[in-house]
Amino acid sequence: MCGIVGYIGPEEGRDILMNGLARLEYRGYDSAGIAMVGPDRRLQIVRCEGKLSGLQYKLNDNPVTGTVGVAHTRWATHGRPSEVNAHPHRCGPFALVHNGIIENYAALKEELEAEGQRFESQTDTEVIVVLLDREWRRVKEYKQAVRNTLKKLRGSYAVVIVNEQEPDSLVAAKKESPLILGLTESAFFLASDVPAILPYTRQVVYLNDEEVVFISREGYSIESLPDGAQRSPKPHQVDWNPIMAEKAGYKHFMLKEIFEQPRAVIDTFRSVVDLERKEVNFPELNLDKDLLNKIERVFIVACGTSYHAALVAKYMLEGLCRIPVEVDLASEFRSRDPILDDKVLLLVISQSGETADTRAALKEGLDKGAYCRAIVNVVGSSIARMAQGVIYTHAGPEIGVASTKAFTTQLVALYLLAIHWAAETGRLPGKSIEQYIQDLIELPGKMEKILSDTTRVTAWARKFKDFKDFLYLARGPLYPIALEGALKLKEISYIHAEGYAAGEMKHGPIALIDAEMPVMVLLKHGPLYEKMTSNIQEVKARDGIILALIEGEPSEIVGPAENQLVIHPASEWLSPVLFSLPLQLLAYHVAVLRGTDVDQPRNLAKSVTVE
Ligand code: AGP
Repeated sequence: MCGIVGYIGPEEGRDILMNGLARLEYRGYDSAGIAMVGPDRRLQIVRCEGKLSGLQYKLNDNPVTGTVGVAHTRWATHGRPSEVNAHPHRCGPFALVHNGIIENYAALKEELEAEGQRFESQTDTEVIVVLLDREWRRVKEYKQAVRNTLKKLRGSYAVVIVNEQEPDSLVAAKKESPLILGLTESAFFLASDVPAILPYTRQVVYLNDEEVVFISREGYSIESLPDGAQRSPKPHQVDWNPIMAEKAGYKHFMLKEIFEQPRAVIDTFRSVVDLERKEVNFPELNLDKDLLNKIERVFIVACGTSYHAALVAKYMLEGLCRIPVEVDLASEFRSRDPILDDKVLLLVISQSGETADTRAALKEGLDKGAYCRAIVNVVGSSIARMAQGVIYTHAGPEIGVASTKAFTTQLVALYLLAIHWAAETGRLPGKSIEQYIQDLIELPGKMEKILSDTTRVTAWARKFKDFKDFLYLARGPLYPIALEGALKLKEISYIHAEGYAAGEMKHGPIALIDAEMPVMVLLKHGPLYEKMTSNIQEVKARDGIILALIEGEPSEIVGPAENQLVIHPASEWLSPVLFSLPLQLLAYHVAVLRGTDVDQPRNLAKSVTVE
């Protein structure tokens, strides 16, 4: 999830573009760049690794100027953060910025290299501008070259292109990646999101997927790529202030990130699943079939929410691949001299890729000769660079300290690893890998449904916001979700909450149950359903207040319907994603009602990089 901006108009555009980027920096901040066509009709490009302030610094020594240009702040997906991988990418007279993932970039790059084209970066984006330059030299007509180029791309893109041979024009297009057009009497602005253009206009045109917009200084035309149909939409009036806009109208980044999860899950599986061939490929994991067959034991190590994802993965890998899995807290693993050898896979999980204990655990594994791989959200982070192979979750930047979308994308990445491993080693139980992939393809829709109605969860938040304690109970792959639900409530509402394996209740925690104790139970149909209902009876027998997330339909055993929230059925490996959403929302709404600092809770940091 990068931030892109474009401008064409009568004013000097450099500061307009840089201000726009500053308002989009929450979308990505590992490198940045700007390209403008100056009064001399020459392209000027300045790029740098790191935060926007670094680019501003470079521009002080090396100013660019012009009244047409593009700029970009990056969240790396392909190619680690560096100046050469920063946007804009140039080829011929064109400079281009991009947000999205080009799934067939490797095949296109191969085709272009076979024709003698040269590439300087590891990005998927550079393929687009090299393709454009080739098409332009082939058809000699700019707009047609743009159309031909876009039609060859598979995946998601929002692109803005400046052309030094046509300095009074700007071209942009989008497909499954956000891009808006801002208008004033005399100028046009393009941006990934409203915050970038709000200081200049509130007149916005929302581009549809597979639309390209050709902009001149006098006007613009919107064209549908598949059939060339023209569209002249009436601009919308945006009534947000810049701060509101940065959160896309949500009150907090955490809430925005909760609602971004269906998209993040799609971006995560689309980066490794070939939907046509229903195949899973991990381009950067470096774990081939022979190694998958050789590995005899797996250790999964992480901290906090990532540790809860590791616990779910134990059920997935043991259940689907029949391989023994040990899960450890990184802070414990790194100091207990673990027994590792060259038949062990050490998998570390981290959103930030910078957590000190997880980094140290990885070093332990590398020193002891285990196969060390990582699941990380931040491309180019220390853990991503230390590991011998990596799977990236495509959650985009997670600003809220309480991890939400990084967690559900970790669960999806782990699910894909498990089905891939089982299929590659001929151990996939019951159904074909196509069916396991089909289950995943249906998941975002089910997530949308749960997020579309939050009335029950907000009612629970109002009812229980002043309680002092909370218990979360579940069994099987949902047990770690009970732990995660308790962690979310603890870390942002400061209510004491515990998650427990329901079968553990009678060995102690049941002593806590009374009429003051809300107990959240996670109930899924299957071999553990009856055991869970007997745990519910145990709680009710002690006047505990039962709240239930229940799969399929409400159950009388649980009690009054208003204390139950129905979750759409899904496979045992994917239900943990669905059951997580209402628990995130409950913690969020309780915290808001208690007036805590939801995005920056006390005593917590987004990434714990200190020992
Ligand atoms: C979760 O909401 C917390 N922010 C925290 O527990 C976090 O999961 C933990 O610090 C691990 O961070 P990482 O995934 O970036 O390594």
